[in-house]
Amino acid sequence: MSTEVRTKRVTTRDIRARKGAEPLVVLTAYTAPIARLLDPHVDMLLVGDSLGMVVYGMETTLGVTLEMMINHGTAVVRASSRSLVVVDMPFASYQESPEQAFRNCARVMVETGCGGIKVEGGREMAETIHFLTQRGIPVMGHVGLKPQSVHAAGGFRAHGRADDEAAAIRADARAVTDAGAFCMVVEGTIEPLARVLTDEVAIPTIGIGASVACDGQVLVIDDVLGLFNDFTPKFVKRYADLSPLVSQAAEDFAREVKARSFPGREHCFGMPKDK
Ligand code: KIV
Repeated sequence: MSTEVRTKRVTTRDIRARKGAEPLVVLTAYTAPIARLLDPHVDMLLVGDSLGMVVYGMETTLGVTLEMMINHGTAVVRASSRSLVVVDMPFASYQESPEQAFRNCARVMVETGCGGIKVEGGREMAETIHFLTQRGIPVMGHVGLKPQSVHAAGGFRAHGRADDEAAAIRADARAVTDAGAFCMVVEGTIEPLARVLTDEVAIPTIGIGASVACDGQVLVIDDVLGLFNDFTPKFVKRYADLSPLVSQAAEDFAREVKARSFPGREHCFGMPKDK
């Protein structure tokens, strides 16, 4: 008899059930080693298209491709066993039509084995979200600041200060909920709006730069670890400062190689033949 104990992955149903209950913990992950380390501590691992900036050094997320998301999504699913893995759909892979969205989302789900996908957008994406959820694709929404529309929105800035903008974001959140999303990211909104959204919709809100008023929080892992220094939004809290450690390790290695003191005997396979 096998003694293997299999842990059950968190499901979209579990996530929905956390509305108004214990806050949801979400971190981005792009690679297998990081996914393995985060998996025991989070409810969801989000393979965000932020990987364009964080991993590939792009200036925005607009250049991210479906192939990049599939490759990183596959690695994260492979290295995790507990958390629900959600893969972000990149720009231009889902906005054209519900049919285009279904084709590409289905490919991401089949090829990566992830448990859900994320799309940015509100009322304009409601028909597509409905189309996807009716056909077996679990959808995480994303309202407020939408990085894929950063040019149209006039750059990265807090959303919801003006009454008309706040009303539009509330309508977006309701539309995404009614369309069947199982939860939604709320990005870059001021606290009073995040509180109203969270009270108003029946699915969990996951905040990023949107205050403590949400049902959960998500951060970009490289920001959390102090590894991404190009652009750090004000709301990010660093829980570690790994950049100097990485630089120090590289410097120490370079010094030992140049001094011919690496590899020492203890770092070789086998001993020299004459010993
Ligand atoms: O791409 C991403 O990582 C995201 C999160 C920051 C929510 O969308």
